[in-house]
Amino acid sequence: MCGIVGYIGFRDAYPIIIKGLHRLEYRGYDSAGISLFDKGLRVYKKAGKVSDLENFVKGVKLGGTMGMGHTRWATHGAPSDRNSHPHSSGNRKLTIIHNGIIENYGPIKETLVSKGHVFKSDTDTEVLIHLIEDIQNETGFDLREAVRVALTKVIGAYAIVIMSEDEPDLLIAARKGSPMVIGVGKGEYFIASDATPIVEYTKNVIYLNDNEVAYITREGLLVKTIDNKVHTPYIQELDLKLEMLEKGGYDHFMLKEIYEQPRSIRDCMRGRIYPQQGKVQLGGIKEYTDKLKNIDRIIIVACGTSWHAGLVGEYLIEEYARVPVEVEYASEFRYRNPIITEKDLVIAISQSGETADTMAAIGLAKEKGATIFGICNVVGASIPRTTDAGVYTHAGPEIGVASTKAFTAQVTVLTLMAFYIAQQRGTITQGKMVALLTELNTIPELVERALKANEHIKEIAWAFKDSTNCLFLGRGSSFPVALEGALKLKEISYIHAEGYPAAEMKHGPIALIDEDMPVVFIATKDSSYEKVISNIQEVKARKGHVIAIVTEGDTEVKGMADYVVEIPQTDEAFVPLLATIPLQLLAYHIAVMRGCNVDQPRNLAKSVTVE
Ligand code: G6P
Repeated sequence: MCGIVGYIGFRDAYPIIIKGLHRLEYRGYDSAGISLFDKGLRVYKKAGKVSDLENFVKGVKLGGTMGMGHTRWATHGAPSDRNSHPHSSGNRKLTIIHNGIIENYGPIKETLVSKGHVFKSDTDTEVLIHLIEDIQNETGFDLREAVRVALTKVIGAYAIVIMSEDEPDLLIAARKGSPMVIGVGKGEYFIASDATPIVEYTKNVIYLNDNEVAYITREGLLVKTIDNKVHTPYIQELDLKLEMLEKGGYDHFMLKEIYEQPRSIRDCMRGRIYPQQGKVQLGGIKEYTDKLKNIDRIIIVACGTSWHAGLVGEYLIEEYARVPVEVEYASEFRYRNPIITEKDLVIAISQSGETADTMAAIGLAKEKGATIFGICNVVGASIPRTTDAGVYTHAGPEIGVASTKAFTAQVTVLTLMAFYIAQQRGTITQGKMVALLTELNTIPELVERALKANEHIKEIAWAFKDSTNCLFLGRGSSFPVALEGALKLKEISYIHAEGYPAAEMKHGPIALIDEDMPVVFIATKDSSYEKVISNIQEVKARKGHVIAIVTEGDTEVKGMADYVVEIPQTDEAFVPLLATIPLQLLAYHIAVMRGCNVDQPRNLAKSVTVE
C-alpha cells in the first residue's frame, strides 16, 4: 500500500524518483507527489497517477540531487491533491512521505490542535510531521532526535522518509511494519518500498528492520533503533534483473506474467524435484523434517489469491500427506481466539510477503507456540524474515496487480510441500512418488500447450464481454480454481463474478441462471467428471451459457457446452496448474475488450500493508 522512493547523491533526483514511482505504482495509484531539495524544499503533488504528476510538473525546472516521492493508496482521506503526499509541517520546513497507518493519530492531532497546529489534509501522515515539529519546538532537539522521539509516540505501521529545509544533506528513513529497502551506491543512497526502483543503480541493499531509523547523508548512513541503539546494517546483494521489470513486448504486465508461467513453474521446481529417485528436496524447511513427522494439523493463512492457492494446498496435503488442514483468511484468523498448539504447523502464503493481515496472523500463531512456514515470492520481504522456515516461489517480480504467475507458483510449492511431508510421514510409496514427480516435471510444457488456446479464448471473451454477471463452478481442487477464475474476472473487468463448488449451485446460484448468465465450468476428466456433467446439464436446462474447461480430446462436454477450451491431460493432482491458465486469459481479454486498466484495476493495490 503506497510506494515510496528517496534519493540522495550527486545525480538529478527527479528522474530517479519518477522512474521509481512508476515501478511502485502497483502499490497504489490514487495520487502522487514529490519533494526535492533545490536551494530549499520544493513540493509538487497531484491526485491521479504518476503520469498525472508528470504532466503537472511539465515545464517546471526540477533541480536537486536529493528528493523523495510517493504514490498513494488512500486510507485516511479521499484521493485528492491536498491529501497527497508529501505532507509538510506547519512551518513548512519539514516534509514527509509515509506508507502505513498511524493508528493513534486522533489523540495526537487533538493535542496538537489544542496547541495551535493547523492541518491542511485529512491524513494521519500530516499529524506525524506536525508532531516532529512540535517536539523540536518544545525540546530544541535536532531533527534526528525529534524524529526518533516522535516515533516512540506513534502506534501503527509506517515506512517514512523525511526531508528538512535546514538539512540539504540529510534524508531520514524509518520503518515499522511497512517495507523499506535502502540501496547503497558510491556517494549515493536510494530508498524504496521494494528493490525495483533501485536495481538499475546498485545491487547492494539493506533491508531496514522494524523499529529502525536510518540517517542518510551523501557520506554515509547511520542506523539506530528507535530506542537509540546503533545497529550495524547488513548489506546484501540483490538477485533481480532489470528485464524482469519490463513488459518485454507484451501489451500488459498481466499478459507477460501469464505467458511466463511455463518458466516460473520450472524455476519454482528447479533443484527441488528428483523424479527418477522419487524425491522432493526443500532446503528451506529441511531442518524441520522431524517436526513434520509429528505435527497434528496444518493451518494455512493467507489473503486473496494466496488464500485460493491455500485451498488447493488443502486438497493436496490431505490427499498425500494425510494431515488435517484448515485454510483461513488471515484477516479472520487474527481476530478470533483460534485454538493453536505447539503441534500445529502454520503455513503463511503471500506473494508480496508484506500483507498486514497475514503478518498479524503469523504473530498470533507464534505467540501460541506453533511452527510457522512461509511461502513467499518476494525474497527478503517481511514474512520470510519472520517465519521459522519457508520455501520461496521464485516466480520473479509480479507487477500486474491481479496475481497470475505467483498463484501457479504458490500451488507448485504447495504441491512440493504435500509430497515432501508425505515423504517424511511415509504416507506415499516410492513408486507413486516417481510417477507423480515424472508427471509434475512435464507441467511447464503442458502449461505452454494450454497457452496455445489464447486466440480461441479471445473469441469467447468477445462473446461475453458485455455480461454483467458470471459464475465459475468446479469440484474438488477445481473449486478453488473456480474461485480464482471469478476473482480474476471481477477484479480486472468489474463484472460481478462468483466461484462456487459445482454441486452447491443447486442451493442458491441456480436461481440466477437465465439466458444472460455465462457459467464457466472446470470439467476436466477426473474423479468428479460425471458429477460435473450433471451440473452442466442443469445449467443448460435453464438456458445458461456454458463455457467449459475440458481435457484434450473430450467429446461428451463438447456436445453440451456452448464453448469449450481444452487443456492437456494430466494427473488430477496437477489439474489446478493447467485449468487456471484459460481462466486468466479469459479475464484478461474481457477486461481489455471492456477498456479496463488491466495492470492497475481501480481501488486495488498489489501489496496490502494495511488491515
Ligand atoms: C491483494 C492483491 C492480491 C493478493 C492479495 C494477497 O489483494 O491484489 O493479488 O492475492 O493482496 O497478497 P499477498 O501478497 O499476501 O499474496
